[in-house]
Amino acid sequence: MNSLQGKSVLVVGGSSGIGLGIAQVAAGEGAQVTIASRSQRKLDAALATLGASAKASVLDAGKDAEVDAFFGDGRKWDHVVTSAGMGGRGALPSIEMKTAYAAMDAKFWVYFRVARAAKIAEGGTLTFVSGSLGTKAAFGSALVSATNAAVEALGRGLALDLAPVRVNVISPGVVDTPLWNQFSEERRKEFFATTSQKLPARRIGQPRDIGHAVLFAMTNPFLTGQVIQVDGGSGILPGTGH
Ligand SMILES: NC(=O)c1ccc[n+]([C@@H]2O[C@H](COP(=O)([O-])OP(=O)(O)OC[C@H]3O[C@@H](n4cnc5c(N)ncnc54)[C@H](OP(=O)(O)O)[C@@H]3O)[C@@H](O)[C@H]2O)c1
Repeated sequence: MNSLQGKSVLVVGGSSGIGLGIAQVAAGEGAQVTIASRSQRKLDAALATLGASAKASVLDAGKDAEVDAFFGDGRKWDHVVTSAGMGGRGALPSIEMKTAYAAMDAKFWVYFRVARAAKIAEGGTLTFVSGSLGTKAAFGSALVSATNAAVEALGRGLALDLAPVRVNVISPGVVDTPLWNQFSEERRKEFFATTSQKLPARRIGQPRDIGHAVLFAMTNPFLTGQVIQVDGGSGILPGTGH
């Protein structure tokens, strides 16, 4: 396995949730971690958990000019990770086109834009975070599924185009992150408890669980073009939806 000691790791979407878990695991392995996201407030709070050598950059990866400027300094990163974006729940025929466009904008186009602009050193990696709905169906989630499936297809294709940079996709199941704050605390607790009971792992995920999977993708020199499910076993349960 390759070491992360002294390697530069950029996590776009690293100020919260899964991205922060990835940044924490990488920092723990001795990497020089940079987190990037839109909110200075979230970045400041996240940075306080990452140790003295970590850095943060305000970046809206939804904007072409900001992403081009960020990567325009010619710096080569050893490892780049994208973990951002959400939305698009709702069932046809009621879902509006603006909601549909926004879902692809917030995730697929963010990942594509970063992949297009990032300069990655030979022997380095690009890792996308998708989501388990990319490979399964659930009521009201066709668009979420399509967005994540698009990310996974992009990762496979880029593993050829960007070689020898290795490109992989980590597909999480339900993970306890601020993304679920859209639910009331009571509903969230109930959802996590019922989901845990159904899963073979008997728990939901924590951000560092996904961080360790990304660490594997960054450090295993024979791994590329793969989609790795880190979902507590939900993928082997037919029809649960998560
Ligand atoms: N949590 C789960 O159960 C779960 C399950 C499967 C898949 N996922 C996927 O995992 C990814 C991360 O989700 P999460 O649960 O960690 O959510 P989260 O806690 O809300 O974190 C999302 C991160 O993305 C950043 N971000 C959003 N838009 C951005 C943009 N345009 N440019 C730069 N940064 C941006 C946010 O920071 P700012 O607001 O500061 O920009 C934040 O750091 C998402 O793609 C999600 O679909 C999550």
